[in-house]
Amino acid sequence: MTQTHTITVEPLGREVQCREDQSILDACLRAGVWLPHSCTHGTCATCKADVVDGEVDHGAASSFALMDYERDEGKLLPCVACPRSDVVIEADIDVDESMPVHPVQDFTGTVVALEEIALQTRRLVVELDRDIAFNAGQYLKFSVPARDGLPVVDRTWSIASPPAETRRLEFHVRNVPGGRGTDGWVFGGLSVGDAVSVSGPYGRFVLKTDDDRPAILVGGGTGLAPLKSMIRHALENDAYAGHLTLYQGGRSREWLYDVEYFQALAAQHPDRFTYRPCLSEETEADCGSDATAYGFGMVTDVIAADHPTLSGSSGYLCGPPPMVEAALKTLMSKRLFPRDIHREDFFNEGDKESGAVRSPLIKRGPRDL
Ligand code: FES
Repeated sequence: MTQTHTITVEPLGREVQCREDQSILDACLRAGVWLPHSCTHGTCATCKADVVDGEVDHGAASSFALMDYERDEGKLLPCVACPRSDVVIEADIDVDESMPVHPVQDFTGTVVALEEIALQTRRLVVELDRDIAFNAGQYLKFSVPARDGLPVVDRTWSIASPPAETRRLEFHVRNVPGGRGTDGWVFGGLSVGDAVSVSGPYGRFVLKTDDDRPAILVGGGTGLAPLKSMIRHALENDAYAGHLTLYQGGRSREWLYDVEYFQALAAQHPDRFTYRPCLSEETEADCGSDATAYGFGMVTDVIAADHPTLSGSSGYLCGPPPMVEAALKTLMSKRLFPRDIHREDFFNEGDKESGAVRSPLIKRGPRDL
């Protein structure tokens, strides 16, 4: 039988039981003990903490996220470290009082819809076996079944539906050629009626519901998913008092999705929500009579032209790392403070192999697709 050890989390003084084949983060999140985390696979360093006492196996910690000298100094990444004795860790626990902590649980689900929504992009809808509690912006881990001699692997996708919908969850999945979870599964055989195993909720990229400032939300590709959850939560449940403006960036119209949905939402809530879809590789002439619906150029150029200043606002950025980095710089140039900008970078499997890095500008971590 797998041995179990006691993990003491300081400065909380909380104790949790953790198996030798379980990560310390997993044990803590399942016990309702919040530790900061983002990627949950050892590449972003968001969860980095100190080992005060005891022995751990560092597991799949990337050498980018946990340098050799840091291991020697007694650091660990709880998302991939497993105990080899009773362990005391000390973590930088930035508890956000407005964010309820929902313990991670395992669920079984059934695929109830799978549809093409844009180029190389699918909407996946899963009905869970029981209710799940999560915060708008969080994500789930899917177990991608073993195939062709390859083992089961985990892949993560953000929940695009709001927390009020506790059984039927929506996800947006972009295909990654050769990707185990995408090309090899969601785009390679997964069908309506199939059973799926998921766990969650994970992540700290969440709508700050105690805020009432205007918020700028910037989504590229399937980075729209957590923002859609936040916007629906804000508007349908009166969960956010400030005005929300969504900038959705894509190369051309065939890469954007849910445009009509957000246009209708903006028409329904003109005082609370503004929608700006942006096209970087199409022009007004390409769009003809549709042109008035779009901003043209990089999403950051459209934001810069729309706002002389963003002082007093907050920002939520999600998508490919170059877009997130560019949007971060734009928001900061418009007088938004780094502490008011929340970000989630979507890295694909290839990015992970090359060593995901954190932004030098702000303390937030990347996540895989
Ligand atoms: Fe642990 Fe990213 S390295 S959450």
